[in-house]
Amino acid sequence: MSEIPEPMSEKNTWWRTAVVYQIYIRSFADGNGDGIGDISGLRARLPYLADLGVDAIWINPWYPSPLHDGGYDVVDFRDINPLYGTLDDADQLVKEAHNRGIKVLVDIVPNHTSNLHQWFQEALASPPGHPTRDRYHIRDGQGKDGSEPPSNWLSVFGGSAWEPTSDGQWYLHLFDVSQPDLNWENSEVHSEFESILRFWLDRGVDGFRVDVAHGLFKAPGYPDITEDGDLSVPRQQLDHPFWDRDEVHEVYRRWRSVLNSYGDRMMVAEAWVHPDRLPLYIRDDEFHQSFNWDFLAAEWDAKEMARVVAESYERASKVGASPTWTLSNHDVMRHSTRYGLPPGTDWHRWPMEGPHDLLDAAAGLRRARAVALITLSLPGSAYLYQGEELGLPEVWDLPESVLDDPTWERSGRTVRGRDGCRVPLPWTSEGPALGFSSAEPWLPQPAAFAGLAASAQADDGDSMLTLYRRALALRRERLATHEEIEMIDLGPDVLAYSRGIEMTCVVNMGQTNLSLPDGEVLLTSAPLSGGDLPPDTAAWMSVQPSSEDSTD
Ligand code: GLC
Ligand code: CA
Repeated sequence: MSEIPEPMSEKNTWWRTAVVYQIYIRSFADGNGDGIGDISGLRARLPYLADLGVDAIWINPWYPSPLHDGGYDVVDFRDINPLYGTLDDADQLVKEAHNRGIKVLVDIVPNHTSNLHQWFQEALASPPGHPTRDRYHIRDGQGKDGSEPPSNWLSVFGGSAWEPTSDGQWYLHLFDVSQPDLNWENSEVHSEFESILRFWLDRGVDGFRVDVAHGLFKAPGYPDITEDGDLSVPRQQLDHPFWDRDEVHEVYRRWRSVLNSYGDRMMVAEAWVHPDRLPLYIRDDEFHQSFNWDFLAAEWDAKEMARVVAESYERASKVGASPTWTLSNHDVMRHSTRYGLPPGTDWHRWPMEGPHDLLDAAAGLRRARAVALITLSLPGSAYLYQGEELGLPEVWDLPESVLDDPTWERSGRTVRGRDGCRVPLPWTSEGPALGFSSAEPWLPQPAAFAGLAASAQADDGDSMLTLYRRALALRRERLATHEEIEMIDLGPDVLAYSRGIEMTCVVNMGQTNLSLPDGEVLLTSAPLSGGDLPPDTAAWMSVQPSSEDSTD
């Protein structure tokens, strides 16, 4: 029996309307001059984050790791990668963030470990059938001599999901070959992760982002996938052999009771499942929130956006959760570039396949400004990815020689992967690594980053950074406790909704100027044109209720 969740109270609901800023620590700020971001660099930039006005930060995995998958290949969940600092540094960071009113979320990776994790090393050193092997999926192969993999499953990063061991068995890795999948049928795996959660909760973190939350369980016997096409992505079908299996929910119920016993801590799921299945993850005894991929994937189209907004709100509300809104993260093409590509472009392939003149970077940036005002005015939480407040584009043309994402090699060099959104931030317009580091950064920054540096934008009233700061301040002032939304129909090319009397957001996604409803304009993503809202522009307004709605 799981414990009964605490009743909602003001105290334990900070996350319902939080703005969470994602820190890809390797690329945020380098404190010790080795070209790699770290905890001391992050601590030094806390004032920047406080000025920006975020409520929380989520830090990508910072544990010891050979970084074959950017740190999602974890060697020890209870320590800090020496490249990033020490546990003491982490404790200091949590304390300093809290002093500034910023909560801290860390990333938990329960689907797999690094192959250098002690458990996997023990498993490989033990004979087949030994209990240490049962913590992973290590199995005999098929065929007369077991030389065929146990199933036809493919890795998300390309190639077979099975790798032979030196003694003739096979281990499962749904991601890189250096990321063996844990066996969640094994009770030690359960107790280990509950203990890891407590380890970080005891150190004062405010919660977790849970990696591949829809993974974990695998169908008994590893049945082949028979469906044609891409075998690696979650589908609508409910009996996928390794994604979104019902067994995962019992795990999160137990985790939730651990979190509840600490008070106002939260966890957010990275679950790439069919939108209709997402509410299962955010029932009131499981995750507090989950990322909303429908919104991230929505094209720049008023009807589609309106549908996605209304449906996402509906799905979360019906289980009592608050919706979330994300446009970018460390796994996807930055949205200021995405919105500059024609609808339907395959973002993963376009950097390789082009044609590159399809990109309208100016339109992308205009829409990125407008969509910031959407994300930050919707009910629920907004998850921002470092650098979007600077309007950073995807660096889609990094030299092949610097590509680091395992996708590049595992796809036979046909998909460049995710490095283009992970390029170190520009803090200043000058200096060796644009203020990111005193040394050569681990990925090269393009020349265009100089003009987008935080220092260059800080005092520019028209900059993206200023827009984000203003929007965050207004959001705090007007929308802090509201969770309602009402869609407004202003025509097929307009996304519009009101957040009670506090705010109405109007976005012109058409080709011609739009006349605004009566009211006070609070903030726009671009200057109005003769009082009208230009294409690709958003306005926040305070619209007086019409006399029949008003109470006096
Ligand atoms: C998640 C992470 C991604 C990582 C993968 C495997 O999708 O966001 O960066 O490669 O899990 O851990
Ligand atoms: Ca460093």
